[in-house]
Amino acid sequence: MKKISVLFVCLGNICRSPAAEAIFISLIEKKGLTDDFIVDSAGTGSWHIGKKADSRMRVAAERRDINILSRARQITNNDFDEFNYIIAMDDSNFRNIQNLKNRTASAGFASIKKIQDFRTVFNELEVPDPYFGGDEGFDYVLDILEDSVNGFLESIS
Ligand code: 4NP
Repeated sequence: MKKISVLFVCLGNICRSPAAEAIFISLIEKKGLTDDFIVDSAGTGSWHIGKKADSRMRVAAERRDINILSRARQITNNDFDEFNYIIAMDDSNFRNIQNLKNRTASAGFASIKKIQDFRTVFNELEVPDPYFGGDEGFDYVLDILEDSVNGFLESIS
């Protein structure tokens, strides 16, 4: 069976999308689906390329037994050809991804979605950026994502 590839995208690729990626990896491990997927994350911005995820997010995730191992990278034109799904954390990311796709010669086959379209419990239409806020913001992002990332997995499996 061909693997399904999923790319989670936020602005910096150090808070929200690495958390979404790690939550997705943890979910597919629990369901025995690891071999069915390729999972990655990226940022629309370039500031943090090569960096580990924000330590506040890594610590908050570890308390839930979720390990965030990714290193930041920026989304590229190739991603539109290589991923089945590109999943934005907020409306701004979504627009930036669409704009990049429109400027890309190869239109690609990726389906571009917003993660909160798959929410079932929380009303948030976007995943709020926790970077400039307090520690509680990181836990709230994880709460939201545990719901919507699960909703996304349910929608495709
Ligand atoms: P993220 O959070 O998009 O969830 O990774 C941010 C991280 C860094 C910055 C903005 C958002 N920044 O401006 O450096």
